[in-house]
Amino acid sequence: MKIFDYLKERDYEQLIFCQDRDTGLKAIICIHDTTLGPALGGLRIWDYESEEEAIVDVLRLARGMTYKNAAAGLDFGGGKAVILGDPAKVKNKELLHVFGKYVDSLGGRYITAEDMNSTTEDIACINEVTDFVVGLKEKSGNPSPITAFGVYKGILAAVNEVYGNLDLTDKVIAVQGLGMVGYALCEYLHKAGAQLYVTDIDEKKVTRAVKTLNASAVAPNEIYGLACDIFAPCAMGAVINADTVDLFQCKIIAGSANNQLADEKYGEILMEKGILYIPDYVINSGGVINVSEEMKGYNKENAMVRAAAIYDSVTKIIEISKKDQISTRIAADRMAEARIALEKKAK
Ligand SMILES: NC(=O)c1ccc[n+]([C@@H]2O[C@H](COP(=O)([O-])OP(=O)(O)OC[C@H]3O[C@@H](n4cnc5c(N)ncnc54)[C@H](O)[C@@H]3O)[C@@H](O)[C@H]2O)c1
Repeated sequence: MKIFDYLKERDYEQLIFCQDRDTGLKAIICIHDTTLGPALGGLRIWDYESEEEAIVDVLRLARGMTYKNAAAGLDFGGGKAVILGDPAKVKNKELLHVFGKYVDSLGGRYITAEDMNSTTEDIACINEVTDFVVGLKEKSGNPSPITAFGVYKGILAAVNEVYGNLDLTDKVIAVQGLGMVGYALCEYLHKAGAQLYVTDIDEKKVTRAVKTLNASAVAPNEIYGLACDIFAPCAMGAVINADTVDLFQCKIIAGSANNQLADEKYGEILMEKGILYIPDYVINSGGVINVSEEMKGYNKENAMVRAAAIYDSVTKIIEISKKDQISTRIAADRMAEARIALEKKAK
């Protein structure tokens, strides 16, 4: 891989390799863009097959955070960090401290947070050596309720576009995944009068939704082809793929899962099919909105107000998509890029 060519093509600022012989730390921090503010993005700990795989992952994730933070209206740029190795084997206090010192050495250009295999306890440990962390238990805490609230607001914006009102009482909504976000989303939707179809590989979670939210259960592989108004993917990524894309009978796809499109082309394919796709990184930005509030001294009310504005972001993306005759996926990127370009011009 020609790293400098890759960095230049997508305009990355910095890629930092961090090594420590005593603790065995091998980490990479990537700062994609700090136009809007310090690069904010979580720390992933993963046993990559190769160093190249780790580099590609951190590059891709850091750039994704630039778009996510920009589209969410946050004054943060995009960055990410990865520690290479099996979390069960490599993770310990000393190693996290060395990683934290590397973060600290960047003087606030990069702010770290939780991601896959890094917990609030790990972030607290890193916080012992650097202030450049967010996502502490005693501050913003678990982001899932705010993420779910943001997804609910995004769904309302999509419903307003497709049905011309905000009424969910006659809507059938299929929710995939009843985890921390999916279940909380179901609670909002149920309260608003929607009829729910749910699925999860954990039967206990399904039973709970059936009992408490009057939801109807379907098997995991039946959820895609269900006749419904909205499909809300809240489990894993890449659920819009070659096997599923022709099954959908919904008018809207809007959910919390990251990287829902197995390939970017599905954004255009859904548009051709007349299905309104709400880009994942916009509708699920409640989590990053929530942690970002810590930098100002955490206030849940403020986080809720900002997450509610996901309604406006989704509305704007739909407007751009219609005006420019482009998919909502491209429209979301354009909205984020326009914000960064405006800020660059003003500097
Ligand atoms: N938690 C947040 O604040 C947040 C923020 C942004 C994005 N997301 C994304 O939203 C999604 C859900 O996050 P979460 O925090 O609720 O995770 P979670 O682990 O609490 O829930 C995921 C649920 O999906 C279920 N699941 C897994 N495979 C499934 C399958 N094949 N079919 C049906 N259900 C399946 C799991 O059993 C689990 O109940 C993830 O993609 C996550 O990356 C979460």
